[in-house]
Amino acid sequence: MPKIVFSGIQPTGSLHIGNYFGALKNWLEFQKQGDLCYFCVVDLHAITIDYDPKQFQDKILDTIATYIACGINPEKSIIFIQSKIKEHSELAWLLNSITPVSELERMTQYKDKKIQHAKNINAGLLDYPVLMAADVLLYNTNTIPVGYDQKQHVELARTIANKFNAKFGQTFTIPEHFIPEVGAKIMSLLEPTKKMSKSHNPKSYISLSDSKQDIEKKIMSAVTDSDNKIFFDPEKKPAISNLLSIYHLATGWTLQQIQDKYKDSTSYAQFKKDLANELVKLLKPIQDKKQELLKDKTKLLEILQASTNKAQEQAKKTMEKVKQKMGLI
Ligand code: AMP
Ligand code: TRP
Repeated sequence: MPKIVFSGIQPTGSLHIGNYFGALKNWLEFQKQGDLCYFCVVDLHAITIDYDPKQFQDKILDTIATYIACGINPEKSIIFIQSKIKEHSELAWLLNSITPVSELERMTQYKDKKIQHAKNINAGLLDYPVLMAADVLLYNTNTIPVGYDQKQHVELARTIANKFNAKFGQTFTIPEHFIPEVGAKIMSLLEPTKKMSKSHNPKSYISLSDSKQDIEKKIMSAVTDSDNKIFFDPEKKPAISNLLSIYHLATGWTLQQIQDKYKDSTSYAQFKKDLANELVKLLKPIQDKKQELLKDKTKLLEILQASTNKAQEQAKKTMEKVKQKMGLI
């Protein structure tokens, strides 16, 4: 039985290899399997932190182009912009009425963002996971492929769905997360015990749009330990283990094969040089395709029209059912 798959990424700037290996790369597998996939650009989530409205349209288009350049095919998968379908906001409001504030206040991402964005702790920041629950519940989603940091939000979406079903009668499918075994948490190149994040120093992440020179510079200056031995041990060697995971994900080689290749190395230099090359090889075709797509922005938006119509139809159906169950006219 094909599954219904839903995932999204915020258009907050160029995506990094954490987003690629943690999320996008796995989306491709579901698309390949013939599942019914919804891949959304979650612009309404992105406005919960400070942003520049003048640049926002370009960031949204950039994210759409990145999805397609990475292999998401608009003829097979449904690609759309969240704010184009008003049912996302509408369902979020209804779900608000059954979501305890205390559940929202204990979300790790909210606690982190409260510190990071201390001057802009808006209600949307707290309500963020309810909108995310609305995203997935509108489409009867079975599977949500995300990185590890979103696990808690998916659990909350399940809690909200169960609560709604218990209170108003069976309505929502209870979704499950899909978190990859390797790649669910790609670490910062500068602080290997923290996750790679767009909001940190650009030297700490490889953006999907980084040039060959940038990739080489960033990998060569990635923090490592000083024993010059290349083996996988996230506890004792978090930095090298992170680079090994990235190497594995970029090439498809097993960790053992990579460790064997460098077993006689007396420094990390060759390993890092090869890893940078592999990343350039992986990202160059994606960058070229994305540039091509961004040449004609009108056409890029037109490509989404059929997808948006399909999503709209399903969202409307779910909302009618939800309103009826809740006793609205
Ligand atoms: P965001 O950029 O927060 O919208 O994240 C988009 C997707 O990338 C989500 O599924 C995240 O879980 C995933 N993701 C973000 N950062 C990382 C990371 N460092 N490692 C693995 N996955 C990540
Ligand atoms: N909250 C997710 C993130 O920060 C993005 C997101 C919004 C999402 N809605 C979603 C992911 C629905 C999966 C499903 O990465």
